[in-house]
Amino acid sequence: MRTHKIAALPGDGIGPEVLDAGLTVLEALEKTEGFALNTIRFPWGSEFYLQHGRMMKEGGFETLRTFDAIYFGAVGSKAVPDHVTVWDFILPIRQKFDQYVNLRPMRLLPGLKSPLAGRGPADIDMVCVRENTEGEYSGVGGFVHRGREGELANEVATFTRAGIERVVRFAFELARARPRKLVASATKSNALKHSMVLWDEVVEDVAGRYPDITIRKYHVDALAARMVTQPDTIDVIVASNLFGDILTDLGAAISGSLGTAPSGNLDPTRKNPSMFEPIHGSAPDIAGKGIANPIGAVWAGAMMLEHLGEKQAAHRVIRAIERVTLEGRVRTPDLGGSATTAEMTRALVDAL
Ligand code: NAI
Ligand code: MG
Repeated sequence: MRTHKIAALPGDGIGPEVLDAGLTVLEALEKTEGFALNTIRFPWGSEFYLQHGRMMKEGGFETLRTFDAIYFGAVGSKAVPDHVTVWDFILPIRQKFDQYVNLRPMRLLPGLKSPLAGRGPADIDMVCVRENTEGEYSGVGGFVHRGREGELANEVATFTRAGIERVVRFAFELARARPRKLVASATKSNALKHSMVLWDEVVEDVAGRYPDITIRKYHVDALAARMVTQPDTIDVIVASNLFGDILTDLGAAISGSLGTAPSGNLDPTRKNPSMFEPIHGSAPDIAGKGIANPIGAVWAGAMMLEHLGEKQAAHRVIRAIERVTLEGRVRTPDLGGSATTAEMTRALVDAL
């Protein structure tokens, strides 16, 4: 029996609700697919912070390092400032484990309605490769004259040639495996005359090594507009940390709901564990009501299985999601229905 050691980080708000749903679906595959998930849960997040003054226990990273993958819900609560939850938890995991690719499929699932009139699943099928360790989220900067008149803050976007090159290469390799063989680079080199000029140069260098792939460069604002007006012209997007963050929420919105969108934080070298999570946050407005859409978390679980080499199991999860959305009988409120998280999870397990 193949055993995969999974660190489950449910986090806050709807994080535990959707992560439990994801684990229920993944565990339903164990018997027939011949693998076992050895899952250990860590109660880290805002509650933990309020008790211990930190988001995860001391030595938490060393503990996580011993796992094959990390399965994460979401963090964020009114009781703790968001920059603390993000900088004490999410971003250090991505950086310390060199998860330099944030892979985010943006696809309108069959049966779901896009807010874009007249668009169906054939029109909205993109994937974003977002840089995940540097750029605008490097954490470089500081305050001057804090709390006094003349207060100043700067945030220094930091781009390295090596950091850009590895993520761009990943995007080209991904495009090569897709039928359209098309990469859109999100730039802004007209206004950001250092970082994005370097970005463009590296994209051109890499593109030269992939003559079979079509590369198009768009300024990020124009690309955002294009995602709305002509989503069918976009296949793989490669973007910096901030640009990718924004474009993928847009991609989720045009795909019907933020609740369906998954992501993988990948260390493609496999030296460190990769982390899989829905892209949404802790959704305090619906937390505890049992109505969160579990699809984003379940789909992220399928990406985790794929990464662990369980390709057939991953494929079955995606098929189950597509079946449930196409059938349309069981839908959570964000998709216009009245089903609970538990009902949706049951429907997904049944569809397997
Ligand atoms: P959010 O993604 O939590 O919620 C935005 C809206 O989408 C809300 O109306 C929410 O109800 C809805 N929504 C999100 N996921 C849903 C689901 N699965 N099913 C149905 N509806 C869903 O973003 P928001 O409100 O900006 O942030 C809330 C908290 O989450 C903040 O503390 C923020 O810092 C944190 N956050 C954490 C992330 C993470 O852990 N990776 C990512 C984004 C935000
Ligand atoms: Mg985001």
